[in-house]
Amino acid sequence: MKRESRTRSVGRAVVRKEGREKVTGAARYVDDVRMRGMLHGRTIRSEIACGELRGVRLEFDRAGFTIADHRDIPGRNVVSLIADDQPCLVEREIRHAEEAVVLLAHEDRERLLAARVELDCRTGTAVFDPLISTRSFKDVRIEKGDVERGFAEADLVVEGEYRTGHQEHAYIEPNGVIAVPENGGVVVFGSMQCPYYVHKALTTLLGLPAAKVRVVQTETGGGFGGKEEYPSMIAGHATILALKAKRPVKIVYDRAEDMAATTKRHPSVVRHRTGVRRDGSLTAQRIEVVLDGGAYTTLSPVVLSRAAIHAGGPYRCDHVLIEGRAMFTNTVPNGAFRGFGAPQTQFAGEVQMERIAEALGMDPVELREINALRPGDSTATGQVMRDDCSALDVLRAGVKRSDFRKKRRDWKGTSRGIGLSLFFHGAGFTGAGEVKLASRAALELTETGVRILTGTTEMGQGQRTTHAQIVADAMGIPYDRVEVAPVDTARVPDSGPTVASRTCMIVGGILMECAREMKAKLGKLSPRAYLQKHGPLVVEKQYRHPEDIVWDDVNYKGDAYGTYGWGCEVAEIEVDPDTYEVRPLKLTAVVEIGKAIHPVLAAGQVEGGAAQGVGYALFEDCAVRDGRVANHTLTNYIIPTSVDTPPIDTVILERPYRHGPFGAKGIGELPLDGAAPAIVNALRHTGRDLRAIPATPERIMEAT
Ligand code: MOS
Repeated sequence: MKRESRTRSVGRAVVRKEGREKVTGAARYVDDVRMRGMLHGRTIRSEIACGELRGVRLEFDRAGFTIADHRDIPGRNVVSLIADDQPCLVEREIRHAEEAVVLLAHEDRERLLAARVELDCRTGTAVFDPLISTRSFKDVRIEKGDVERGFAEADLVVEGEYRTGHQEHAYIEPNGVIAVPENGGVVVFGSMQCPYYVHKALTTLLGLPAAKVRVVQTETGGGFGGKEEYPSMIAGHATILALKAKRPVKIVYDRAEDMAATTKRHPSVVRHRTGVRRDGSLTAQRIEVVLDGGAYTTLSPVVLSRAAIHAGGPYRCDHVLIEGRAMFTNTVPNGAFRGFGAPQTQFAGEVQMERIAEALGMDPVELREINALRPGDSTATGQVMRDDCSALDVLRAGVKRSDFRKKRRDWKGTSRGIGLSLFFHGAGFTGAGEVKLASRAALELTETGVRILTGTTEMGQGQRTTHAQIVADAMGIPYDRVEVAPVDTARVPDSGPTVASRTCMIVGGILMECAREMKAKLGKLSPRAYLQKHGPLVVEKQYRHPEDIVWDDVNYKGDAYGTYGWGCEVAEIEVDPDTYEVRPLKLTAVVEIGKAIHPVLAAGQVEGGAAQGVGYALFEDCAVRDGRVANHTLTNYIIPTSVDTPPIDTVILERPYRHGPFGAKGIGELPLDGAAPAIVNALRHTGRDLRAIPATPERIMEAT
């Protein structure tokens, strides 16, 4: 894509499109929406992790209640996604403790919540340990060179096992939807990332043609992957009730239900065996990745894929073998979470790098400098790096900016520590994913400018704003002449899911092509004059895959992603010698993201991602007992508050990506990948050998 020489709004912190409505309180979230005759819905869940449902006893006065179970599903009883193995409502088999069995609806929430339902179940033998589980949802193997030969060339072999726990998305707004029966079908309003995923799931569940199902996104208070696949489940439940009651039904989870029953980040066990020469160069990487998938497939195959592809880190090594598997357990299904497998494997990889440096008696920065990918080098899948490879640049900038070497020397033997991580993140869907998605986006001419039509969702990240900036500059019109249409599957094309750090780069790229064509069509005419002369104008385009990005899905070889964002994070911490609490003092985050379309929003992504990484590293401990999250409230599942979050010094480097709009790559997920390993490496600097997160005071005490 040719870069525009003159930009008016790109690169500037223009006013957010949805900002005014949010700050004035005019924005309507799903729980703000009320409808005439609306019922409230509630989900009765299994409570045992494994077994069989034998019967249901309703122990309440049924007057005014709508009651539904799997027999009320008109189409197929599945939450349609990758494998279609997850039922929307239990028929007989129970695979985890939060499975939905019966649905209730009533006008009066108090009566609804007071209704007692007893389930008669036979308990089976549950599997909770992914290392013991014998059922795999997906296996991935990445092979480069000959790993045994690589070990033979090594002077030293370092081994290690690393573990990460669940993580809760903790978006401010929980999952919620309203389903409304409409002309023989349904319209669903709700908080979500992927309206077309919900649309597909509902047409399957109801056995209805596409035109009978409409999905409308309401203002969404955070997603982080937690509203990627789960909304299909809750939308299914509300729809089943609404069709039976012939009235609108609202289901909004409270915090406890949301934390207990919806997807989490996959826990992982990652084993490394690395061969290295005395001079620090890597000769072999053998990596085994095990993810805990939970009870159903959900997105585990693709999370595993991204986890495995990022497992070797941003380093060159000729001989690599990465094997991954996502295992079945009798726990709530794990799913999409910002980073999508990469935070797990890059945590392991970056702590492993630190241990290799120690084993060699080498400076950790020097070890990374020696091995960091450079243009011309290739990744584990054999992807050859071009000039948009910035591993060395972010590393050097991070070290300099944080005064790493001096603090490293000065703090030795004190309660303070400093550590860093070097990482990357592929932007867009993995492999041939973007080709399969074949996303579409459109522009519609208005009296004063254009309106953007996409299925891409705003969830707080600023997508409406960045898309409008790209379109405004590509057309050469002022930013405030660009509107963004509400997301409604009856009105906007399917732009693919709002996930995978693909929104700005991929969908923004399609919009840029629409804008160029729109501009050419307008010629010298103003929008108003054009409309008067020729009538309405809509330009719609489909994603075109660049010919120079080639991926072999069978052998897992080639260009896993069009490009990568690069990051270096430096963590400065202090450990309380009595309580073993860690106080993060400062984070320095250097990222290279092609082009910051909106510098303030981009910095916001870095700060938010890094803060989530602080929680992942130190506080967020999901206590799963008998397959259930025991601490499903924010009083005992601790996320970092503003007091716990250190100042974050963000540095954005720009090295344009040849196919990105104005050079932009992805940024949403990258910053989360590097915080946990930087913090744990800072703990290593204080003399504590931690190989599992969260690094709670208990774990730190054991490592002291
Ligand atoms: Mo995401 S974790 O690609 O919504």
